[in-house]
Amino acid sequence: MTDFPHVTKAVVPAAGLGTRFLPATKATPKEMLPIVDKPAIQYVVEEAVASGLSDVLMITGRSKRSIEDHFDRAYELEEALSAKGDRERLAQVRESSDLAAMHYVRQGDPRGLGHAVLCAAAHVGKEPFAVLLGDDLIDPRDPLLTRMIEVRERLGGSVVALMEVDPAQVSSYGCAAIEPTDADDVVRVTDLVEKPPVEEAPSRWIIIGRYVCAPEVFDVLRETPPGRGGEIQLTDALKVLAQRDAAGGGPVHGVLFRGSRYDTGNKLDYLRTVVQFALERDDLAAELVPWLRDFLAKYDEGA
Ligand code: G1P
Repeated sequence: MTDFPHVTKAVVPAAGLGTRFLPATKATPKEMLPIVDKPAIQYVVEEAVASGLSDVLMITGRSKRSIEDHFDRAYELEEALSAKGDRERLAQVRESSDLAAMHYVRQGDPRGLGHAVLCAAAHVGKEPFAVLLGDDLIDPRDPLLTRMIEVRERLGGSVVALMEVDPAQVSSYGCAAIEPTDADDVVRVTDLVEKPPVEEAPSRWIIIGRYVCAPEVFDVLRETPPGRGGEIQLTDALKVLAQRDAAGGGPVHGVLFRGSRYDTGNKLDYLRTVVQFALERDDLAAELVPWLRDFLAKYDEGA
């Protein structure tokens, strides 16, 4: 029994310029960089689908056509694999095009995450919807988004995913002031600040890239002035909703996440993520682990 409408749509902002990964991202979207052999963005769409959201709207920009191609059929490739009888690879190629109902809208002017989300307004309409940021990968065994949707369907309003970090890291994220609720893993969010200096941070709980937003967020975003970095911030719009009651599109709750999150947004974290994902793969770990050990032993000797 739920009191509030079901969440059925996912919005995935993918219009960033990917400047941290130049020159790789000059002509290739950063979302298409592989984590072992699968583009990072496919993990995100798989997570949306695993959480029951099979309508996925991607907010793209220029040079992002390969994302659309990746989630579409690839007839020539499929025919060639089929002629060779390579069923395993054929299945891999088809997997991404069979995943979800994919939709695309272009952001045009990249004016920040809040602006990217606002580009979803016409597609989403008056329904609650999820937002998944491609730089954050959540361990596929962790039902974080499913839990967030459950909380939204029970309590209404919006829901953010919160993770506790060292104080030094807080200034790289949106940060929440929180109050406990009856449920251990759910808090009420009373305030939000985008990338606060450490001394102004209301807590050590930061927003990771998963949100379930009330549709009222669109009206708030239309009125939200540029904030941190001169960009229209989703955090600023959610701060407004956190201070409203249910009639105005509030409140905002947080689901406390204690699982594994993998960052792919900068080079070092990306490399860590690739190694961790590779070590979980049965087809790679058996050879990779002894090689890594050997390599590091030699590296240490040489150091
Ligand atoms: C965005 C949000 C920030 C959030 C972060 C999560 O920042 O603005 O509130 O904590 O994603 O990854 P960005 O990393 O795009 O600068």
